[in-house]
Amino acid sequence: MSGMTVYFSDYTIADEFDVEQEILGPAGLEIVRAQCSTEQDVLDTIAGVDPVAIVAQWVPITAAVIELCPNLKVLSRNGIGVDNIDLDCCRRRGIAVLNSPSYCIPEVADHALSLALALLRKLVVATDQVRAGEWGWGGLAPIPRLCELTFGVVGMGAIGRAVVQRARPFFKDVIGHDPYVKAVEIDGRPVAMVGLDELLARADVVDLHVPGTDETRHLLNAERFALMKPSAYVVNTSRGTVIDTDALVAALRAGQIAGAGLDVHEQEPLPMDHPLRRFPQVIITPHTAFYSVEAVDQLRAETVLNIVRFMAGEPPINRVV
Ligand SMILES: NC(=O)c1ccc[n+]([C@@H]2O[C@H](COP(=O)([O-])OP(=O)(O)OC[C@H]3O[C@@H](n4cnc5c(N)ncnc54)[C@H](O)[C@@H]3O)[C@@H](O)[C@H]2O)c1
Repeated sequence: MSGMTVYFSDYTIADEFDVEQEILGPAGLEIVRAQCSTEQDVLDTIAGVDPVAIVAQWVPITAAVIELCPNLKVLSRNGIGVDNIDLDCCRRRGIAVLNSPSYCIPEVADHALSLALALLRKLVVATDQVRAGEWGWGGLAPIPRLCELTFGVVGMGAIGRAVVQRARPFFKDVIGHDPYVKAVEIDGRPVAMVGLDELLARADVVDLHVPGTDETRHLLNAERFALMKPSAYVVNTSRGTVIDTDALVAALRAGQIAGAGLDVHEQEPLPMDHPLRRFPQVIITPHTAFYSVEAVDQLRAETVLNIVRFMAGEPPINRVV
């Protein structure tokens, strides 16, 4: 195969490759499409392709995969997180890693706040009760007044900040934690930044917006759940690895926390027999926080534009490595 191939390892956001073809074709880049679920699938399907570029969605792009691509120049992650890519290997090999950092900021922020509001107002519990023939608020008590509560944001990056803007009109206080951000001002107003333990102890909603890294793995574990109020909720739209799932199940069973809103999971799809599926006060969405019609249009275009620009020596939309 020619040296001008773009290999798509797994790409579930579009059936037709019309947009991708329109942007890559004129740049002389040919598409090879695989639909991998595992690293082994990638190893099997990339052998002999010799791509200059890889587009990766969820499957791991490991050193072993990169070794099979002697002419690889660039990896474009179609999304924000780059935790499925061996970044150290890319650095060593001088391979650029690009992403699309802003395509779904409003969507994920809306989704996180929606989960928080639905949990606090017990919308899903109420719906379950109505479906079961019950009526009235008795089975839902207690529900606190939102404007007397504290909303805590862990990770004050692009999405965390967008959540602060949305949460402020609803809650008494919006506080933040981010070891890499000292002071944050949003719309001219500072956000009170506190240590993680203080945030966990004070917040009625603990809302996670950190990257999936070794450092953030199991950031919320048994010890940290023990610091939270029994009336508090956890919301996670960041990465499943940020929560120790077994510890979350134990905390829910013990009544250490009130519930959780989870868009991301340590294992996706969440297994059918997983205990998290059975708690009425847990809302689960299938990693769809990013989704809107407009977000997907933007993501598709940016993922391939990133490659075209990089190959032409122009600045890409965003370079991580
Ligand atoms: N569910 C979805 O559909 C979806 C869509 C897009 C992004 N995401 C995920 O959302 C997360 C946030 O994305 P973003 O665009 O805001 O990223 P970002 O890089 O703009 O912000 C991340 C923030 O987390 C902070 N951080 C790093 N380590 C931390 C720690 N140990 N404790 C507290 N803060 C820490 C960083 O300093 C940074 O400010 C990422 O994990 C991303 O993969 C999920």
